[in-house]
Amino acid sequence: MDIVVLAGGYSHEREVSMSSGSLIANALMKNGHRVILLDLYFGTDQAATFEEAYTKLSKDKYEYKVRRQIPDLNALRAQKEKPDEMIGKNIIPIGQSADLVFLSLHGELGENGQIQAVFDLYDITYTGTGYIGSAIAMNKILAKEVMSQHGIKTPKWEVLSEDQSPKTSVPCVVKPDASGSSIGVYLVDKEEDLEAAITDARKYSKDVLIEEMIEGREFSIGVLEDQALPPIEIIPKSGFYDYENKYQAGATVEICPAEISEALTKDMQAMAKRVFKALRLEYYARIDFMVSDSGDIYCIEANTLPGMTPTSLFPQEAAAAGIDYNSLCDRLAKLAAD
Ligand code: DAL
Ligand code: MG
Repeated sequence: MDIVVLAGGYSHEREVSMSSGSLIANALMKNGHRVILLDLYFGTDQAATFEEAYTKLSKDKYEYKVRRQIPDLNALRAQKEKPDEMIGKNIIPIGQSADLVFLSLHGELGENGQIQAVFDLYDITYTGTGYIGSAIAMNKILAKEVMSQHGIKTPKWEVLSEDQSPKTSVPCVVKPDASGSSIGVYLVDKEEDLEAAITDARKYSKDVLIEEMIEGREFSIGVLEDQALPPIEIIPKSGFYDYENKYQAGATVEICPAEISEALTKDMQAMAKRVFKALRLEYYARIDFMVSDSGDIYCIEANTLPGMTPTSLFPQEAAAAGIDYNSLCDRLAKLAAD
């Protein structure tokens, strides 16, 4: 197939997306597809068809490492003022002349349903969840409301609109309502650190979410079609599973399949499938959990475009089920094309 891997874009997870996209592009090429890696933000000025873009971009070396710094979106904006033009000028024409677009975007624009809705309008085939599930899962508040309505346990939460002060007491977790890779997330133990955490989280979204802190172990489970993959346990060597610990190789111990009882594995897998259905997810997703010291399972969130970088969890979960990285990418592409 002729596949556009759409990555980069204009979000704080731009770096992560480029890393996922470069590996996905490589994997798809190894499976015999004709592939171009296209940046949603910068696009290509010289191509309006897949063929032209392929000639221009296929020489690129797709080996992108996540830099340790979260990108400065103001600096990026200064390089190009109207990112949206790229979508109209060449992402859509190239997308329409390709067999499908493999979405490797992470973060706000890309994971929140907007690009999926645009592609639906233009009849462009893309991988993963459609716009409704993407919008629900990306908005952590909405996702928690839906999960609660379905009887799925999630840590208690409070939403702080602009200028509101929290009622939740420490220890707690402070998060922007729609971000990823733990950007703007703080685990707050001391009352005096709470305000600074909220101020920083507000840089990433208008509404901020404050969750009760669950003391326990952290797990993640991939769902691929109707299959829940083996759970992975995440143990950062220091601090919590933040941006640095997610993308710096060796910073976190990841055990897959997690060394836990069969009963806990089954319960978490069943819950992952319930979350997948409740949030209207499609084809694949990664669902994140905390298991409290008293044994309660809490769903933290669902990720509709899980990271596919060298340190990411979803590929490790698939590998534990016997699906290597190349086969995984090929399968996700074929699922979209069918
Ligand atoms: N938001 C990142 C990419 C993840 O969930 O893997
Ligand atoms: Mg996430």
